[in-house]
Amino acid sequence: MRTDQHAMIQATSLSKRYRSGHVEKVALCQVSLAIPRAEFWIVSGPSGSGKTTLLALLAGMIAPTEGEVVLDGKSITHLRDHHRALARRNLVGMVFQEFALVAGMTLAENIFLPLVPQGGPGETERQRVRALLERFGMAAYARTQVERLSAGERQRGAIIRALVADAPILMLDEPTAALDTENVRIMVDLLLSLRAEGRTIVATTHDRRLTEDPRLNGVLRLVDGRLER
Ligand SMILES: Nc1ncnc2c1ncn2[C@@H]1O[C@H](COP(=O)(O)OP(=O)(O)OP(=O)(O)O)[C@@H](O)[C@H]1O
Ligand SMILES: [Mg+2]
Repeated sequence: MRTDQHAMIQATSLSKRYRSGHVEKVALCQVSLAIPRAEFWIVSGPSGSGKTTLLALLAGMIAPTEGEVVLDGKSITHLRDHHRALARRNLVGMVFQEFALVAGMTLAENIFLPLVPQGGPGETERQRVRALLERFGMAAYARTQVERLSAGERQRGAIIRALVADAPILMLDEPTAALDTENVRIMVDLLLSLRAEGRTIVATTHDRRLTEDPRLNGVLRLVDGRLER
């Protein structure tokens, strides 16, 4: 990882319009932000305000209608699809809403799934995952089918999967949606320990248990696709 002080995640005048037929929906309008390295930020706002859209843009999963995203000093906006996908894989680990773990597979199989396109895990990745499973209290569940895990265990499993490529940025979409207060506490403590290692974390939520945590570096609030000042 580089150690200079530029923003790890930078967005300039990001807008996203979705078009279906003749109807155009402005999901995000002129959003600019800069999140420094090793900070933990929340994107909050009501349902439909554009949180998932913003996260998908910052992660390079979708392209903006206007504006630019710069991750770790590199623009990902003007890369072609293939290069954007590569940059994303190296820079961003993503935890999707509803976790998106594949039922019928074990937790370990799910965790290694992102590595399948490159031929599966090597010894480095296996060791990293073993260490993460231990650290997250999940070592006993590696060979368990994911549908047998509790919501908190599935969420911790999904975070391990997002860390399998050791990307410096971790993004989570509504990570506490299915969690009770005890599991929210466990998850936030884990995320804070990842921040202490130098990872930059962004999570969307409308959960007060998260937005009111004094240990966060900042909370951005979206209303109708615009950042509230
Ligand atoms: N693929 C799409 N095509 C058309 N409209 C979309 C698409 N994705 C999102 N939208 C619209 O863009 C707006 C923002 O959606 P988004 O999912 O980003 O909101 P959100 O803040 O994440 O909401 P929630 O809290 O319910 O997850 C919504 O009005 C939504 O209907
Ligand atoms: Mg959403």
